[in-house]
Amino acid sequence: MNNREAEMAFRYSPTARALHWVTALAVLAQFIIGSWIVWFEPGEEAFKFRLYAIHENIGFTLLPLTLYRLFYRIGHPPAPLPEDLPAIMRLAAHANHAALYLALIGMPLLGLCATSAWGFPFTWLGLVPIPTPFGKNEALAAVFSALHFWGAVALGLAILAHVGGALFHAVVRRDGVLQRML
Ligand code: HEM
Ligand code: HEM
Repeated sequence: MNNREAEMAFRYSPTARALHWVTALAVLAQFIIGSWIVWFEPGEEAFKFRLYAIHENIGFTLLPLTLYRLFYRIGHPPAPLPEDLPAIMRLAAHANHAALYLALIGMPLLGLCATSAWGFPFTWLGLVPIPTPFGKNEALAAVFSALHFWGAVALGLAILAHVGGALFHAVVRRDGVLQRML
Protein backbone atom coordinates (compact mmCIF):
# COMPACT_ATOMS: atom_id res chain seq x y z
CA MET A 1 0.00 0.00 0.00
CA ASN A 2 1.50 3.36 -0.97
CA ASN A 3 1.03 6.57 0.98
CA ARG A 4 -2.00 7.70 -0.98
CA GLU A 5 -3.78 4.38 -0.50
CA ALA A 6 -2.99 4.47 3.22
CA GLU A 7 -4.54 7.93 3.41
CA MET A 8 -7.65 6.83 1.57
CA ALA A 9 -8.00 3.76 3.80
CA PHE A 10 -7.82 5.76 7.04
CA ARG A 11 -10.82 5.59 9.30
CA TYR A 12 -11.21 7.25 12.67
CA SER A 13 -10.99 4.64 15.45
CA PRO A 14 -14.25 3.26 16.91
CA THR A 15 -13.61 5.39 20.02
CA ALA A 16 -13.12 8.57 17.97
CA ARG A 17 -16.22 7.81 15.91
CA ALA A 18 -18.30 7.07 19.01
CA LEU A 19 -17.15 10.33 20.62
CA HIS A 20 -17.95 12.26 17.43
CA TRP A 21 -21.47 10.89 16.99
CA VAL A 22 -22.43 11.01 20.67
CA THR A 23 -21.28 14.64 20.65
CA ALA A 24 -23.24 15.41 17.45
CA LEU A 25 -26.42 13.90 18.96
CA ALA A 26 -25.94 15.71 22.26
CA VAL A 27 -25.40 19.04 20.51
CA LEU A 28 -28.54 18.52 18.45
CA ALA A 29 -30.47 17.80 21.67
CA GLN A 30 -28.98 20.98 23.19
CA PHE A 31 -30.28 23.12 20.35
CA ILE A 32 -33.73 21.57 20.55
CA ILE A 33 -34.07 21.78 24.34
CA GLY A 34 -32.39 25.22 24.60
CA SER A 35 -34.72 26.70 21.97
CA TRP A 36 -37.71 24.99 23.54
CA ILE A 37 -36.98 26.59 26.92
CA VAL A 38 -36.44 30.05 25.48
CA TRP A 39 -38.86 30.38 22.55
CA PHE A 40 -41.62 27.88 23.33
CA GLU A 41 -41.47 28.32 27.09
CA PRO A 42 -43.55 25.54 28.72
CA GLY A 43 -46.23 26.87 31.06
CA GLU A 44 -45.76 24.29 33.78
CA GLU A 45 -42.92 25.28 36.13
CA ALA A 46 -41.91 21.74 37.14
CA PHE A 47 -41.64 20.65 33.51
CA LYS A 48 -39.66 23.75 32.60
CA PHE A 49 -37.20 23.11 35.41
CA ARG A 50 -36.82 19.52 34.24
CA LEU A 51 -35.97 20.77 30.74
CA TYR A 52 -33.40 23.19 32.23
CA ALA A 53 -31.87 20.33 34.24
CA ILE A 54 -31.63 18.09 31.16
CA HIS A 55 -30.13 20.92 29.08
CA GLU A 56 -27.61 21.82 31.78
CA ASN A 57 -26.55 18.23 32.44
CA ILE A 58 -26.16 17.17 28.81
CA GLY A 59 -24.38 20.46 28.08
CA PHE A 60 -22.00 20.27 31.00
CA THR A 61 -21.18 16.59 30.28
CA LEU A 62 -19.88 17.74 26.88
CA LEU A 63 -17.03 19.57 28.65
CA PRO A 64 -15.17 16.53 30.13
CA LEU A 65 -16.14 14.52 27.04
CA THR A 66 -14.50 17.08 24.75
CA LEU A 67 -11.42 17.43 26.95
CA TYR A 68 -11.06 13.64 26.93
CA ARG A 69 -11.54 13.62 23.16
CA LEU A 70 -8.77 16.18 22.63
CA PHE A 71 -6.48 14.22 24.96
CA TYR A 72 -7.31 10.97 23.14
CA ARG A 73 -6.62 12.70 19.80
CA ILE A 74 -2.99 13.36 20.83
CA GLY A 75 -2.36 9.61 20.91
CA HIS A 76 -4.56 8.88 17.88
CA PRO A 77 -4.02 11.66 15.34
CA PRO A 78 -6.07 11.34 12.13
CA ALA A 79 -4.31 10.73 8.79
CA PRO A 80 -3.82 13.89 6.72
CA LEU A 81 -6.64 14.93 4.38
CA PRO A 82 -6.28 13.83 0.73
CA GLU A 83 -3.13 15.28 -0.88
CA ASP A 84 -4.98 16.79 -3.81
CA LEU A 85 -7.30 18.82 -1.55
CA PRO A 86 -6.54 22.54 -2.23
CA ALA A 87 -4.62 24.18 0.65
CA ILE A 88 -7.44 26.66 1.26
CA MET A 89 -9.93 23.84 1.86
CA ARG A 90 -7.53 22.04 4.16
CA LEU A 91 -7.16 25.29 6.11
CA ALA A 92 -10.95 25.79 6.17
CA ALA A 93 -11.46 22.24 7.49
CA HIS A 94 -8.90 22.71 10.26
CA ALA A 95 -10.28 26.13 11.21
CA ASN A 96 -13.80 24.66 11.28
CA HIS A 97 -12.75 21.77 13.53
CA ALA A 98 -10.88 24.17 15.85
CA ALA A 99 -13.98 26.39 16.07
CA LEU A 100 -16.17 23.37 16.87
CA TYR A 101 -13.80 22.25 19.65
CA LEU A 102 -13.65 25.79 21.03
CA ALA A 103 -17.46 25.94 21.13
CA LEU A 104 -17.70 22.50 22.75
CA ILE A 105 -15.55 23.88 25.60
CA GLY A 106 -16.83 27.47 25.66
CA MET A 107 -20.57 26.81 25.51
CA PRO A 108 -20.74 24.60 28.63
CA LEU A 109 -18.64 27.15 30.55
CA LEU A 110 -20.81 30.09 29.45
CA GLY A 111 -23.97 28.14 30.27
CA LEU A 112 -22.61 27.25 33.69
CA CYS A 113 -21.65 30.88 34.40
CA ALA A 114 -25.04 32.16 33.19
CA THR A 115 -27.00 29.69 35.31
CA SER A 116 -24.96 30.41 38.45
CA ALA A 117 -25.14 34.15 37.98
CA TRP A 118 -28.95 33.99 37.55
CA GLY A 119 -28.94 32.45 41.04
CA PHE A 120 -29.17 28.72 40.25
CA PRO A 121 -25.93 27.03 41.36
CA PHE A 122 -25.34 23.98 39.16
CA THR A 123 -24.88 20.46 40.55
CA TRP A 124 -23.64 18.07 37.86
CA LEU A 125 -25.91 15.00 37.60
CA GLY A 126 -27.37 16.04 40.93
CA LEU A 127 -24.15 14.84 42.59
CA VAL A 128 -21.18 17.12 41.98
CA PRO A 129 -21.56 20.83 42.83
CA ILE A 130 -19.71 22.91 40.23
CA PRO A 131 -18.67 26.17 41.86
CA THR A 132 -18.18 29.48 40.04
CA PRO A 133 -16.28 32.48 41.43
CA PHE A 134 -19.47 34.57 41.68
CA GLY A 135 -22.88 34.30 43.30
CA LYS A 136 -26.16 35.75 42.05
CA ASN A 137 -25.45 38.78 39.90
CA GLU A 138 -28.08 39.62 37.33
CA ALA A 139 -26.01 42.17 35.39
CA LEU A 140 -23.26 39.56 34.90
CA ALA A 141 -25.86 36.87 34.17
CA ALA A 142 -27.31 38.91 31.30
CA VAL A 143 -23.81 39.17 29.77
CA PHE A 144 -23.20 35.41 30.06
CA SER A 145 -26.64 34.63 28.65
CA ALA A 146 -26.01 36.91 25.68
CA LEU A 147 -22.63 35.26 25.08
CA HIS A 148 -24.26 31.82 25.41
CA PHE A 149 -26.87 32.85 22.84
CA TRP A 150 -24.38 34.29 20.33
CA GLY A 151 -22.12 31.30 20.95
CA ALA A 152 -25.05 29.07 19.98
CA VAL A 153 -25.59 31.11 16.81
CA ALA A 154 -21.89 30.85 15.91
CA LEU A 155 -21.82 27.12 16.72
CA GLY A 156 -24.93 26.59 14.58
CA LEU A 157 -23.25 28.33 11.62
CA ALA A 158 -20.04 26.32 12.13
CA ILE A 159 -22.09 23.10 12.14
CA LEU A 160 -23.85 24.10 8.91
CA ALA A 161 -20.46 24.70 7.29
CA HIS A 162 -19.21 21.39 8.74
CA VAL A 163 -22.12 19.35 7.40
CA GLY A 164 -21.90 21.23 4.10
CA GLY A 165 -18.21 20.32 3.91
CA ALA A 166 -18.97 16.66 4.66
CA LEU A 167 -21.59 16.61 1.88
CA PHE A 168 -19.21 18.37 -0.50
CA HIS A 169 -16.65 15.60 0.11
CA ALA A 170 -19.27 12.88 -0.26
CA VAL A 171 -21.18 14.14 -3.29
CA VAL A 172 -18.89 16.46 -5.26
CA ARG A 173 -15.36 15.24 -4.57
CA ARG A 174 -16.22 11.64 -3.67
CA ASP A 175 -12.85 11.40 -1.93
CA GLY A 176 -13.80 9.14 1.00
CA VAL A 177 -13.45 11.87 3.67
CA LEU A 178 -17.01 11.38 4.96
CA GLN A 179 -16.36 7.63 5.20
CA ARG A 180 -13.46 8.32 7.59
CA MET A 181 -16.05 9.21 10.25
CA LEU A 182 -18.75 6.59 9.44
C1 HEM B 1 -22.49 22.58 24.10
C2 HEM B 1 -23.30 22.91 25.09
C3 HEM B 1 -24.52 23.80 24.96
C4 HEM B 1 -25.22 24.23 23.85
C5 HEM B 1 -24.96 23.90 22.37
C6 HEM B 1 -26.29 25.09 24.34
C7 HEM B 1 -27.23 25.72 23.52
C8 HEM B 1 -28.26 26.51 23.97
C9 HEM B 1 -29.25 27.15 23.13
C10 HEM B 1 -29.32 27.02 21.60
C11 HEM B 1 -30.09 27.88 23.93
C12 HEM B 1 -31.28 28.72 23.49
C13 HEM B 1 -30.84 30.05 22.96
C14 HEM B 1 -30.48 31.07 24.05
O1 HEM B 1 -29.36 31.01 24.58
O2 HEM B 1 -31.30 31.91 24.39
C15 HEM B 1 -29.61 27.71 25.30
C16 HEM B 1 -30.18 28.31 26.42
C17 HEM B 1 -29.75 28.12 27.72
N1 HEM B 1 -28.69 27.33 28.13
FE1 HEM B 1 -27.47 26.26 26.92
N2 HEM B 1 -26.22 25.15 25.71
C18 HEM B 1 -25.17 24.38 26.13
C19 HEM B 1 -24.77 24.17 27.43
C20 HEM B 1 -25.36 24.72 28.57
C21 HEM B 1 -24.96 24.47 29.93
C22 HEM B 1 -23.83 23.55 30.37
C23 HEM B 1 -25.77 25.21 30.73
C24 HEM B 1 -25.79 25.35 32.25
C25 HEM B 1 -25.12 24.60 33.12
C26 HEM B 1 -26.70 25.92 29.88
C27 HEM B 1 -27.69 26.78 30.31
C28 HEM B 1 -28.59 27.42 29.49
C29 HEM B 1 -29.63 28.33 30.00
C30 HEM B 1 -29.87 28.69 31.45
C31 HEM B 1 -30.35 28.75 28.87
C32 HEM B 1 -31.59 29.69 28.87
C33 HEM B 1 -31.26 31.03 28.33
C34 HEM B 1 -30.28 31.76 29.20
O3 HEM B 1 -30.57 32.06 30.36
O4 HEM B 1 -29.15 32.00 28.70
N3 HEM B 1 -26.42 25.59 28.55
N4 HEM B 1 -28.49 26.88 25.30
C1 HEM C 1 -24.61 15.18 10.14
C2 HEM C 1 -23.72 15.75 10.91
C3 HEM C 1 -22.22 15.57 10.80
C4 HEM C 1 -21.46 14.97 9.81
C5 HEM C 1 -21.91 14.33 8.51
C6 HEM C 1 -20.08 15.07 10.25
C7 HEM C 1 -18.99 14.55 9.56
C8 HEM C 1 -17.67 14.62 9.95
C9 HEM C 1 -16.56 14.04 9.23
C10 HEM C 1 -16.65 13.26 7.93
C11 HEM C 1 -15.42 14.33 9.94
C12 HEM C 1 -13.97 13.92 9.59
C13 HEM C 1 -13.28 14.98 8.80
C14 HEM C 1 -11.85 14.53 8.50
O1 HEM C 1 -11.63 13.38 8.20
O2 HEM C 1 -10.95 15.40 8.58
C15 HEM C 1 -15.81 15.10 11.09
C16 HEM C 1 -14.93 15.60 12.04
C17 HEM C 1 -15.31 16.37 13.11
N1 HEM C 1 -16.60 16.68 13.49
FE1 HEM C 1 -18.31 16.19 12.49
N2 HEM C 1 -20.02 15.72 11.46
C18 HEM C 1 -21.31 16.05 11.82
C19 HEM C 1 -21.69 16.73 12.95
C20 HEM C 1 -20.83 17.27 13.88
C21 HEM C 1 -21.23 18.06 15.02
C22 HEM C 1 -22.69 18.43 15.39
C23 HEM C 1 -20.08 18.40 15.68
C24 HEM C 1 -19.89 19.21 16.94
C25 HEM C 1 -20.55 20.24 17.27
C26 HEM C 1 -18.96 17.82 14.96
C27 HEM C 1 -17.62 17.97 15.31
C28 HEM C 1 -16.55 17.46 14.62
C29 HEM C 1 -15.17 17.67 14.99
C30 HEM C 1 -14.66 18.48 16.19
C31 HEM C 1 -14.38 16.99 14.04
C32 HEM C 1 -12.84 16.91 14.01
C33 HEM C 1 -12.38 15.54 14.39
C34 HEM C 1 -10.88 15.53 14.60
O3 HEM C 1 -10.44 15.83 15.72
O4 HEM C 1 -10.13 15.24 13.65
N3 HEM C 1 -19.45 17.14 13.87
N4 HEM C 1 -17.18 15.27 11.10
